[in-house]
Amino acid sequence: MNPLRRYSIQKPSFILTTQTPDYLPTRALKVGNPRFATTDDIPHLVDVINRAYVAEAPFVHGPRTSGETVHERMLMPNTWFIVIEANATRGPRQIAGCVCLDCDGHRGHIGLLSVEPDFQGRGLGAKLLRAAESQCQMEMCCPEIELEVVSVRDDLFPFYAKMGYERVGTVPFPIESLLKQPAHLVVMRRSKGRL
Ligand SMILES: CC(C)(COP(=O)(O)OP(=O)(O)OC[C@H]1O[C@@H](n2cnc3c(N)ncnc32)[C@H](O)[C@@H]1OP(=O)(O)O)[C@@H](O)C(=O)NCCC(=O)NCCS
Repeated sequence: MNPLRRYSIQKPSFILTTQTPDYLPTRALKVGNPRFATTDDIPHLVDVINRAYVAEAPFVHGPRTSGETVHERMLMPNTWFIVIEANATRGPRQIAGCVCLDCDGHRGHIGLLSVEPDFQGRGLGAKLLRAAESQCQMEMCCPEIELEVVSVRDDLFPFYAKMGYERVGTVPFPIESLLKQPAHLVVMRRSKGRL
C-alpha cells in the first residue's frame, strides 16, 4: 500500500493566519508523516507557500500563489499536493510544509516546495522532496523528476545539489513582468537510480 494513502483522509483541526503564530518557534518539533492534501487544506497551503516564498520577494513581485490557483492545480489529473504536519512542544499541530507534484508517466515535476520559515533547516524540505519522489515512482513509474529554480536564487542550488538534482538546462521565466531583475529558470533533474 502506498504509505501516503494512509494519511489522505486526515483533516487539519487548526487555522493558520497570515502572521507567524506566537508559539513558533520552539526547540522541540514533532514531525508527522507526509500525507496528501485535501481541499480543506487549501487556506493553510496558501499561507505556508506565501510565507516560505517571501525568500523570493527580492526578485519577484507579489504573493506566490492564491487559493484559486492551488485549487485549480489540485484538481488537475496526476497532480498531488503533499503536506507535512508538525507541532512544537507548546503548540497545536499545523501544516509546516508542502510540495506539489505532477507526473505525465515519463517525468515527474515538482513545484511549490515550501517549509514554514520558522521550521526551515530541520529536515522537512528533504522529507517532502523524498515523499514526492516516492509518489512519482510508485504511482507513475516515472524514471526522472524535474523542478525549476529562479536563476538568481543562489541560496537554493546547494540544497538541490545535496538532494541529488543536477542542472540540465534553462527556460524563460513564465511571466517576465513579475520579475524585479532579469532572471530565468534553471531546470534541475534527478534521474532513476538516483531517485
Ligand atoms: C528550500 C526549502 C524547501 C528547504 O527546506 P528545509 O526544511 O529548510 O531544508 P532541510 O532542513 O530539509 O535541508 C535538507 C538538507 O539540505 C541542507 N540545506 C538546506 N538548505 C541549504 C542551503 N541553502 N545550502 C546548502 N545546504 C542546505 C540542510 O543542511 C540539510 O542537510 P543535512 O541533511 O546534511 O542536515 C526551504 O528553505 C523553503 O521553504 N524555502 C523557501 C521557499 C523556496 O525557496 N522553495 C523552493 C523554490 S524552488
